[in-house]
Amino acid sequence: MKSETELRSTRADIPDRGLVWLNGQFLDFAAARVSVEDRGFQFGDGVYETIRVYAGTPFAIEQHIERLSRSAAAVELELPMTGGEFAAVVEELIARSGLREAEVYIQVTRGAAPRAHPFPTDVPPTVVMTVRPVRPIPRRFRERGIVVKTFPDERWARCDIKTICLLPNVLAVERARRAGADEALFVRDGLVTEGTSSNVFIVHQGEIVTPPADHRILAGVTRGLILEIARACGYRTHEREIPLPELKAASEVFITSTVKEVLAVIRVDETVIGNGEPGVVFRRLYDVYRSRLPGRGPSLNGEPVEESR
Ligand code: PDD
Repeated sequence: MKSETELRSTRADIPDRGLVWLNGQFLDFAAARVSVEDRGFQFGDGVYETIRVYAGTPFAIEQHIERLSRSAAAVELELPMTGGEFAAVVEELIARSGLREAEVYIQVTRGAAPRAHPFPTDVPPTVVMTVRPVRPIPRRFRERGIVVKTFPDERWARCDIKTICLLPNVLAVERARRAGADEALFVRDGLVTEGTSSNVFIVHQGEIVTPPADHRILAGVTRGLILEIARACGYRTHEREIPLPELKAASEVFITSTVKEVLAVIRVDETVIGNGEPGVVFRRLYDVYRSRLPGRGPSLNGEPVEESR
């Protein structure tokens, strides 16, 4: 399996195509600079969002900006712009970049100040927004599904806040890759929480289950959309805890995220899920999800999509 190298970024394969907005200025990546005293760099003192752009349109932007506000409020960081102002900059950034299939990244930190742990006073937050061509998802992931490896969830107790402190996530996905897996799933007190940058779902007796959106996980925008689509398709859905053995015994497992959309999981550690292929529930939900994206055809396999079973 070659997952080791897939989705890994190198300087060579991330082109400088794209654009940055930094504290009010549109800049190239090469020209955009943040202070070494920025609290994002010094302390990981900041929050972020990743938004997918389809056909030049940012998808689910309202939900992302609302979550950015919630994250900022949870860490007592006062956003220097309104939601409408964030949305307007995102639109302009995309338009100026000329990119159609892209990822927008928004980061807000508590600003640049001489290094000291308490909050600085009278320091404006640093706001960075970038747009880049989308990282392609390997065809193998989409068509054959992915392999995941489980790790103890060693993160803090507020995983509902989308902060830039991602070291446990970075370490877990790196270790998963080295072990030949494509994503890491976190397990806390025997319960599956989420992936390093994705939410997790199982199909249990024909019903769809995902862990509850409490402090142990990020309430993913894609998670919310998939739950809504699942109900519209006539599936029963449950937001409840999933013990690891139940995940491994599930007929289907899949993960969701803004960038990965929906990916079937065909193996968890050494356990093959279902018959080892992406399942019918995954296919149905992913087809409907795709049909809702700006500028997309009705279905992956060319068949019309109806939101009922
Ligand atoms: N990450 N859980 C975690 C820990 C995440 O970092 C993410 C997304 C998700 C899925 O959320 P959403 O569906 O809103 O993308 C769940 C983004 C993509 C990132 O880190 O860039």
